[in-house]
Amino acid sequence: MSDEFVPVARIADIAPGTGTAVAVGDREIALFNVGGTFYAIDNTCPHQGGPLAEGWIEGDVVTCPWHAWCFRMKDGKMTLGDYASVDAFDVRIEGEMVAVSRVPRAVS
Ligand code: FES
Repeated sequence: MSDEFVPVARIADIAPGTGTAVAVGDREIALFNVGGTFYAIDNTCPHQGGPLAEGWIEGDVVTCPWHAWCFRMKDGKMTLGDYASVDAFDVRIEGEMVAVSRVPRAVS
């Protein structure tokens, strides 16, 4: 149910400081490795649909590659204000795999 996790990638395939797009059910998720900690947010930028997995990574903030909106990986919120956000998903390590929840984390 709500805590159902889907294995999406091997840990070894996502180098620290990089991101990749993965499918979780019918959603496309941006999965990031920040110094060994993994974060998952919706891959589609709410501005005009840019691919956040291809954005610039600085710490735990990703900058959309199309027009530079910035989102925190931890909760999917914009760094500049509350007027836009993307869903954030819980991540779990399962052996050699990274698994992502099918269900977005509740917005706090
Ligand atoms: S599509 Fe992401 S900032 Fe415009």
